[in-house]
Amino acid sequence: MGQHKKVRKAVFPVAGLGTRFLPATKAVPKEMLTVVDKPIIQYVVDEAMEAGIEHFVFVTGRSKHVIEDYFDIQFELEHTLRERNKKAEITLLSQQLPKAGTVSFTRQQEPLGLGHAVWCAREIVGDEPFALLLPDMIMRGEKGCMKGMIDLYAHSGGNIVAVEECEPEQAHKYGIVGVGDAIGEGFRITSMVEKPAKGTAPSNFFINGRYILQPEIFAILENQERGAGNEIQLTDGMLKLLRDQDFAGYHFRGTTYDCGAKDGFILANVAFALARADIRPSIEEGFKALLAGLK
Ligand code: UTP
Repeated sequence: MGQHKKVRKAVFPVAGLGTRFLPATKAVPKEMLTVVDKPIIQYVVDEAMEAGIEHFVFVTGRSKHVIEDYFDIQFELEHTLRERNKKAEITLLSQQLPKAGTVSFTRQQEPLGLGHAVWCAREIVGDEPFALLLPDMIMRGEKGCMKGMIDLYAHSGGNIVAVEECEPEQAHKYGIVGVGDAIGEGFRITSMVEKPAKGTAPSNFFINGRYILQPEIFAILENQERGAGNEIQLTDGMLKLLRDQDFAGYHFRGTTYDCGAKDGFILANVAFALARADIRPSIEEGFKALLAGLK
């Protein structure tokens, strides 16, 4: 315990095109779409903050500058709020902002795939382990997913991939891991396969979009050839790293919403809204009326 290099930095790849949310994503990055009243990216940054991450690295692309503005002080707005004595709103804005000097942005000049986006963060991350959070995945659980991963990392070191169980017949839709010996709140990973053909998956544990990776992944990604979808795939890089280094699966006990897809995004809105005491009653009432009307 304690002998593993600390995970201080988190990478958020936000350079994807978000084609599944066109036309909205013509002008608004997918990561800025709101779940209840917060942009999706805020949920993910909150999760990293809760896990003790100290430096936030965004890999952005063209037309994503609004994300940069979002993680900055909005001077005029705060001035007006102060003049109007809106204390609660001012506190809210300051709580959601990482400290000055702890946020970095780098550009992925072409969207060549997730593996390439991660590689673009190599100079900022340097020679240390880092967290990787896919911003379109947001989670609800008793313990934050990244917090649980950091706790497991204190025992296991190495690389960690968060996993969740799916219905076995759904396994062909996901990245799936092979399950080895138990370790902490997880297990050793023996293999990884992206979207296995039906009936061939090594388990029903799917990769849910949270990782702790050792910096050796960067050299692998540098030489990584294009894979599925003609993109540089992170999973292909991780498979190479698995030959030399340990990977543990952290079994996240909660629900992940894939906000990169319309159904996941709408479900996330419903789930997070129902978890809010201030709006739950009216939402429930509205749903009842809606469902009754649809009969
Ligand atoms: P997705 O597979 O969801 O792709 O990327 P996308 O482009 O964002 O969305 P669709 O499929 O066109 O609707 C998973 C994550 O990897 C990032 C995305 O921003 C998203 O957070 N990504 C993907 C990059 O940063 N760069 C890429 O080249 C590809």
